[in-house]
Amino acid sequence: MARPKIYVTHALFPAARAALATRCDAEYWQEPSRPPRDELLRGVTDKDALICLLTERVDEALLSAAPRLRIVANVAVGYDNIDLAACTRRKIAATNTPGVLDETTADLAWALMMAVARRLVEADGYARSGAWTGWNLDQFCGADVWGKTLGIVGFGRIGQAMARRAAGFKMRVLYANRHRAPAEVERALHAEHAELDDLLAKSDFVTLHIPLTPATRGMIGEAQFAKMKPTAFLINSARGPIVDEAALVAALATGKIAGAGLDVFEHEPQISDGLRRPNVVLAPHIGSASVETRARMASIAADNVIALFDGRRPPTILNPEILG
Ligand code: DGY
Repeated sequence: MARPKIYVTHALFPAARAALATRCDAEYWQEPSRPPRDELLRGVTDKDALICLLTERVDEALLSAAPRLRIVANVAVGYDNIDLAACTRRKIAATNTPGVLDETTADLAWALMMAVARRLVEADGYARSGAWTGWNLDQFCGADVWGKTLGIVGFGRIGQAMARRAAGFKMRVLYANRHRAPAEVERALHAEHAELDDLLAKSDFVTLHIPLTPATRGMIGEAQFAKMKPTAFLINSARGPIVDEAALVAALATGKIAGAGLDVFEHEPQISDGLRRPNVVLAPHIGSASVETRARMASIAADNVIALFDGRRPPTILNPEILG
């Protein structure tokens, strides 16, 4: 039987490449930049599988260009780049990479929180500049993290990983979530359920851990910033469009909030100029970017593809109904 053909939009990691090589003929996009759209459409024309990143839009147009496609394996847990309904209509499996990046992403959100509260990036720039002439009582005083109230929006795996970290910092933990967590989870994580408005009003740090969906797009905007404390910080390592970036810029400029730690942006890779301020720490969407975690994500994507062509259920399939 002919080996399945696969288009991979990134060089991946050695273990994932080796696994794919045992079962498929893979064509890789080797450039460090993302493949242009026309290259992607060309690449999938004769392919049975696509392994892509969250930067690739998998929509009707792409699926129409790929008549043989049987699986789209996203190397990300978020899959807002994929038209899942369109895949399902065409009986194309779609998969993501849940479960392996929770702690790594929570680490990054925590790092952003610490960095912006303690003015670490400003202080680093100053220390490097050679301008430091000696210790001073009021130099780079920031805000305490320990003992404060952490508001977690979205209490899935990553949100709960944030709550676990908060315990070590003696923080009060509030969470807002569509569904209330079981009582034993609340107890174990010392987390109190709150409505979003209440959480916004009470928290010193508001951290977002929800997926981007039509319901969450623009969920944090002018009205929500108006409810936050002027001393509070917003941390976003989820998806940029959950926050109305123009409203965030205005909230920072007018002192409605104290600062922000941002790993994601509304129009990536563009970052609004108004976010380039000392009280904002910026990162280029690196939440899951540890070598270990990214390698695991790549291997999960490869495993999903191999499973499908072996006649097994892809382990992290998003639309199992297509399997019949
Ligand atoms: C994801 O997986 O959705 C992240 O944004 C990238 O790791």
